[in-house]
Formats: sequence, structure tokens, C-alpha cells
Amino acid sequence: MREFGTEEKVIDEKLQGSATLLDRKEITPNGKKLYLESYGCQMNFSDSEIVASILSEEGYTTTRNSEDADVILMNTCSIRENAEQRVRNKLSQYNKRKKKNPSLVIGILGCMAERLKKDLLEQEKLVDLIAGPDAYRDLPNLIEEVNGGQKAVNVLLSREETYADIAPVRLGAGGITAFISIMRGCDNMCSFCVVPFTRGRERSRDPESIVKEARELYNNGYREVTLLGQNVDSYKWNITKKGEVIDATQPVVTFADLMEKVALVNPDLRIRFSTSHPKDMTDDVLHVMAKHENLCKYIHLPVQSGSSDVLKRMNRGYTREWYLNRIDAIKRILPTAFISSDIITGFCGETDEDHKETLTLMEEVGYEFSYMFFYSERPKTLAERKFEDDIPEELKKQRLYEVQTLQAKLSYAANERLVGTTCKVLIEGTSKRSDDFVYGRNSQNVTTIFPKDNFKPGDYVDVKITDFTSATLKGIALKS
Ligand code: SAH
Ligand code: SF4
Ligand code: F3S
Repeated sequence: MREFGTEEKVIDEKLQGSATLLDRKEITPNGKKLYLESYGCQMNFSDSEIVASILSEEGYTTTRNSEDADVILMNTCSIRENAEQRVRNKLSQYNKRKKKNPSLVIGILGCMAERLKKDLLEQEKLVDLIAGPDAYRDLPNLIEEVNGGQKAVNVLLSREETYADIAPVRLGAGGITAFISIMRGCDNMCSFCVVPFTRGRERSRDPESIVKEARELYNNGYREVTLLGQNVDSYKWNITKKGEVIDATQPVVTFADLMEKVALVNPDLRIRFSTSHPKDMTDDVLHVMAKHENLCKYIHLPVQSGSSDVLKRMNRGYTREWYLNRIDAIKRILPTAFISSDIITGFCGETDEDHKETLTLMEEVGYEFSYMFFYSERPKTLAERKFEDDIPEELKKQRLYEVQTLQAKLSYAANERLVGTTCKVLIEGTSKRSDDFVYGRNSQNVTTIFPKDNFKPGDYVDVKITDFTSATLKGIALKS
């Protein structure tokens, strides 16, 4: 087994790794097949594309069938207990396969790897390889070690790694939409959240490399990019957290500046982003969104709770009033924007009154969409150390049900209001239910289905909305 002793060592390896990547032009397949499975957030899916790129440089080809694989890598999530449980269940299936085929390499990447580290080797005896989110350049060496008969672990977090120079291998089908990571890590320490422990310190990626990636995607036929970070509003380049400019001869780049740069790549390239943080979202970002049509009119602004008391215990850095003020700004500057949220029910000490405040806030904002969860205590977080997980699971679930029911009503009403209007839809593919229909999303991120005619993926089509459900819009294309 091998682990790096210092971060310095990792950076050394990292630089060597990137030199190889840049120098090598032709890749000779090594005859080995890689099966990559991703769980969790978009960031993890985006990271899997970095992993595929690093290993394809070594000659691996990716397969969509795990039965064919020589190497199975699971890129995992730790956000809630059931996320980890899903991975464990799948892992035990792969382990059975390994008993029949001992040369199969099984590795755990991502947040569970980082959270559990070597414990994973003890708990899940048949894991061969463990690599945290900042250790992917080391994967070729780690696999080699496993092939040499050892277990391999690298879970060191870095303050610099952004994988800026690695061109991701696009794993998503379709070729129209893609993710671009603009930063890594999170410095926020929300008391319920494991991400700062699994992803390390926040760092932003060089804006030029982001614009270049967007341009290349556009030239390759992509028509939508989503800029990813745990807290995109705190993106910053050439300035420290304390506000000191690093190189006075170069411009400082904020998230609003970055959005503008990417918007200018081409008016036919749509741009989305995730996730905004209410404490950091400035009006500058909203004004840039208003200025460029290709910056999609959709903001995911997770509130977590409608009660200022709960927000304080969650260490979110804002109150209900502050949040509603941000919502007012969105509605004033971007009147057509759709707003979505993340909500947690049953956080430590949540009273019936607190819960009602979440419901009234949802009504007041009128969210078009939400991701909703009941609280799951995570080891080592601030909440686990400071507060009692005192809401019975049944009550957490009851409150979740109430939140979900209200959200369904709000989503239905939002889509109903769009009937009779015309939306510009970017076609992403053929509808799964019928070959005669295509699907895409409007600027506000609502999936829209309409008859195929001669349209193809990548086309922008004006669609008149004729029907809806709480999740989708249906319509007919307006011929120009
Ligand atoms: N960076 C983003 C969210 C990352 S995690 C943000 O700050 O909004 C995605 C969502 O998972 C969170 O917004 C939260 O709603 C939920 N979540 C995080 N930790 C959780 C926990 N311990 N239990 C339940 N839900 C959790
Ligand atoms: Fe977690 Fe908060 Fe960071 Fe989001 S902002 S990743 S919820 S600590
Ligand atoms: Fe999960 Fe890690 Fe993302 S914990 S939500 S995969 S950052």
C-alpha cells in the first residue's frame, strides 16, 4: 500500500503528469477497458470526464458495459447516508465479479474515498484502489500498483489542483450540452455539509482555460455549457480572499466577468451555472444575465430553510430576510427568470414553527422547482459535533412530504402560466417516449417536448406552449 507523505510530493507528480499529457500526441490503446460509474452532483460527473481523459492518455478505452471492464471505478458521493449506501450495495455486486475474475481492478474515487480513506480497505475488503478528488492525475500509477499486487491509496487534497490543462473526455450522450468546472472545493462550512471535508479548500480555475474550453465545445457542435462550482458566486481570479490583487498588470476576474467572457464566445452558446450561494450572489451577476440573451434565465439559489433560527444553526451566513431580498433583486432585474432551491427538512432543533416558515417562504418565492431532502447527519460536520439530531425520522419524512407536495403545486402553477407563450428551446435529442417527438429545455430550464419534423439536436426552435405537467411543457414549433 502506498500513500503520499506530503502535498508537495503530489504537486511534483502533478506537474510530471501534465507534461506527459501535453507532450504525448498519439495514444496507443493498451487493450484495457475502463468502466466509470458516477454518483452525486454534477461536479462528480464532470470529474469523471477528467478521469476518463487521464486514463485515455494511458491507452484505456471507456466501456458502457461493466461486464467488459478490466478496471471499474466508482466516483462516489457522501452527501447523505443513503448516497453512500447505494454505492456500498453496488460495490458488493462488483465484488462478486472480482471473485470470479481476480485481475479485475475495483477503485473508489470521489467524496466517499476522501471521507473514509483507508477505512474503505478495511470495511470493503475487495476495494483495490482509493483516490480522492484531487488525486486523479495519480490514477495511472495507482492502477499500476494494484496490478503489481498492492492496494493503492492517494487521498491528499490540494490547494491548487483545478485540472485546468486537461481536456475532459465527454461521457454524456448527445453532444449538445456539457459541464465545465470553474472552481473546486468549498470554504463555507455549512454545519450539515460534508463537502468541505471531501473536496477541500476553495480554488478558482484560470478564466482563459475556461473560455478556451467553452470555445472548443462550441466548435465541436455543443450548444450549452453549465459552469460548475459549489459556490460559483465566490469565483475569483487574480485576487486573494482578502481582496489583495495578485498581479497588478492583469485584470481581476469575478464570476460576473467570467460569465460575460463565456457569453461572448458565441451568441448561440447557452450558458447555465450551478450553484449560487445566497450570501454571495451580487446584483452584478444579475445585470450581466440581463444583458446577454444566451445567459439562461434560471437561477438555482438553495435556501435550505425558511427559518432564520435554523439558518443560523446551519451556518449559512444569511437570514430569511436577506434571502428574500436576493429574490426581490432577481425578480426586479430578471423578471422572466425561474428560480429553484434545495431544501432540508428536520434539521437539528427544527420546530413546527420553523417548518411552517419554510413552507411560507416557498410560497412567497414561488419556486418553479426544488431538490428536497430530509436531514441526514454526517460524521465530523459541525452539526454532528454541536447539535443533537433530535427530529425523529418519521417527522423529518412527514415534513419532507409537505414540502414536496407544496413544490409540486408551485411547479404545476409555474408551467401553467407558460401555456400560450412562446419559448426558445434548444433541442437535445429524441424523446424517450416517442421517436416522433424531440425534447430540449427553454431558457428557464424546463424540459419541453414537441413534434420532431425535420429538426435535429442543436437546433434552436421557437415553441408555442400548448400543454404541460408539473415537470414538462408540450408545444408546437412555430415555423419562421
Ligand atoms: N454547494 C451547494 C450544494 C451542495 S450539496 C450549496 O451550497 O447550495 C446539495 C444539497 O444537498 C444541499 O444544498 C443540501 O440541500 C443537501 N444536503 C447537504 N448536506 C445534507 C445533509 N447532511 N442532509 C440532507 N441534505 C443535505
Ligand atoms: Fe456544502 Fe455549504 Fe459548501 Fe454548499 S456552500 S457545498 S452546502 S458547505
Ligand atoms: Fe456528493 Fe461530493 Fe458532490 S459529497 S454532492 S459528490 S461534492
